[in-house]
Formats: sequence, C-alpha cells, structure tokens
Amino acid sequence: MSYKDVKRGLPQRDAKVVAVINQKGGVGKSTTVINLSACLGEGKKKVLVIDFDPQGNSTSGYGVEKEELEHDIYDVILHDQPIEETILPTCEPNVFIVPATIQLATAEIELVSAMARESILKEAISRVKDDFDYVFIDCPPSLGLLTINALVAADSLLIPIQCEYYALEGVAKLLESMQMVKKRMNPSLEIFGVVMTMYDSRTTLSKQVVDEVQSYFGKKMFKTIIPRNVKLSEAPSHGLPVVMYARVSKGALAYSKLAKEVVLRG
Ligand SMILES: Nc1ncnc2c1ncn2[C@@H]1O[C@H](COP(=O)(O)OP(=O)(O)O)[C@@H](O)[C@H]1O
Ligand SMILES: [Mg+2]
Repeated sequence: MSYKDVKRGLPQRDAKVVAVINQKGGVGKSTTVINLSACLGEGKKKVLVIDFDPQGNSTSGYGVEKEELEHDIYDVILHDQPIEETILPTCEPNVFIVPATIQLATAEIELVSAMARESILKEAISRVKDDFDYVFIDCPPSLGLLTINALVAADSLLIPIQCEYYALEGVAKLLESMQMVKKRMNPSLEIFGVVMTMYDSRTTLSKQVVDEVQSYFGKKMFKTIIPRNVKLSEAPSHGLPVVMYARVSKGALAYSKLAKEVVLRG
C-alpha cells in the first residue's frame, strides 16, 4: 500500500503529533518509535514516523535502504520538498515513514539562516495531519534547532528514560526547553508520557531508578515498563520491528502493552 491509499481511509483523522525526545543518546528513543508505531499499526491505527535524527535509526530499523532514497526529511526541511512526496510504506501496512539520512546533520547549521526556522517541521506535518492517527517524531540526541522544530511541531512529548545511573540527568534541561517553546510558540505543548526502558529485573538499580522517576513524573509515567531484551536490539539489523522479528518475546509483549496504554491516553 502506498501513502496515497491512506487517504482512502476516510473519515478524516486528526493526528496526535508526539515527539519522542530525550537529548541523551542511547536511551531507547528510536527503539520506542519503531516498536510502538508497529504495535499501533497492528491495532489498525494509521501512523506516520518522521525520522528526525541524522543517524537514521528508525529509517534503517524499518528496513528502508538509505542509499536508494530519492528524498528524505532533509529535503522537506531545507528544500521545500512536499512531505507527501517523501512518505514511504513500511513492512507494517498501517505505518509510513519519512526517512532520514546523515544529510540531516548539516540542517542544524543551514537552518540558522532560514525563514521561520523553528516552525518548518510543523508546517510540513500540517499538510498530512488529517491522514494519520499518530505522527511520531524520532528526535536527535541534542537540543539544537532540529529538536526545537520537533517541540514546536508536537502536541505532546513521549520521553523514554533508561533504567540506568543518572537516568534523570538532562531531563531538567529538556523540560526547560519545553517550557521555553511552550511560552513562545506552542502554548498547548504537554507531556504525553514517560516510558522506562531497558529495565533489568535482576538489579536493584533498575527498581530504584523507576521509583525515582515515578516520584518525579507521577502519573505521567506509563505503567508499562520496557525490559532489557535481546530481541529488541537484534530486530533493527533485520530491518523489522520486534513484533515481526520475534512476536513471542518480552520486548514485543512490552511494546504491545505500551501501545494499548497509549491508545487509552488518547
Ligand atoms: N529494551 C531494550 N533492550 C535491549 N536493547 C535495547 C532496548 N532498547 C534499546 N536497545 C538498544 O540500545 C541501543 C540504543 O537504543 P536506541 O533506541 O537507538 O536509543 P536512542 O534512539 O535514544 O539513541 C540500540 O542498540 C538498541 O537496539
Ligand atoms: Mg535514536
């Protein structure tokens, strides 16, 4: 199915735009984007993934060959490429992706001199918002102009936090950026939820971190906790979300549960 077929899915939808964000690298942003979107797609939700990280991990995690791409998110942000023309199908029929390549790394600098540089992504998403139930933005691990674009474009934030030492490190800074954008450009921006990742039930550290984050974020924390699971780390090298790579795995189960919670939250 191509992107154009999505449009047949009347009535019109009004996507919830969620930025998956944490300026720390390696906390499970891309893993969450890939697997949560796949589970929502299985549950008949129409989902658009926007890879907004030059590393392009959600692009490769969905098996998209970067070398063969005609356009990617870089062209949308800097060369007025209509976003519709960059949307690709994935192995999950209800999930589509706007890919990213390393090209996007230069956008951070090139954006500095662009007009309305903070709201380019928002404008692009507004063109296709009616076609999806969810748009997930896979953010880069920094608080630069790309991330500001994501904060301006998003209705809400999904913050993955790794069950590790210094889990909350940098979170205050992230919330500061959120407040800044909220005040100036996106007053209704809110936190959609916080998801704990790479939980290791054998360690007391994991439990401590969950308690700490719980007391910081309260009800914003999702009840579903994503365990450390080898299938989750293997799946991207096969270009598949874990529900397709290893349906009967703790990782697949956890992301399916998370998807149900996400739907309940709206
Ligand atoms: N729950 C998990 N269990 C095992 N490995 C994981 C899990 N979540 C993420 N990983 C692995 O950890 C690394 C970092 O995750 P990733 O999602 O790429 O983080 P980020 O996008 O925040 O940089 C990747 O190699 C990924 O496969
Ligand atoms: Mg990533």
